[in-house]
Amino acid sequence: MKKILLTLTITILTLNADIENGKDVYAQNCGNCHRIDMKGGMGKDFNIVSYNRTKWEIMAYVTAPQAMYEQFGYDANAMPKLPLNDEQIRDVSEYIDSLQKFKKWMIK
Ligand code: HEC
Repeated sequence: MKKILLTLTITILTLNADIENGKDVYAQNCGNCHRIDMKGGMGKDFNIVSYNRTKWEIMAYVTAPQAMYEQFGYDANAMPKLPLNDEQIRDVSEYIDSLQKFKKWMIK
C-alpha cells in the first residue's frame, strides 16, 4: 500500500514538473560534482545518468543517496543529501531525464 501511494505521489508530482527550474536546481546544487558536457567530474555525467536511469530512480537517489548507493552499484556514498524540497527534486530529475531522449531500457 505504501509503495502504491508513493508511486502515485511521484506520478502526480512529475506531471507538473518544470524543466527550466530543474536546470537552475542543477546549476546551483549538482554542477560542482556532475557535469553535462561529458568532461568527467566526481559524479557521473548526467547524460549517462539520463540514458541509464528512469526519472523515478533519479528522484529516489537524490531524495536519499545514503539509502540508494548500494542498489545503484556503488561501494561507498560520497554524494550528500542535499537540502532540496520535493518540487526541486522533481524538477531536477525531470531535467536530467530530458537530456537523453533515447534510453537504455528502450533497447530490447
Ligand atoms: C559533492 C558532490 C555531489 C553533489 C553536489 C551531487 N552529487 Fe550526485 N553523486 C555524487 C557521487 C560521488 C555519486 C556516486 C555515488 C555516491 O557516492 O553516492 C553520485 C551519484 C548520483 C546519482 C546516481 C548516478 C547513477 O546513475 O549511478 C544521481 C542520480 C545523482 N548523483 C544525482 C545528483 C543530483 C540531481 C544532484 C543535485 C541536486 C547531485 N547528484 C549532487 C556526487 C555529488
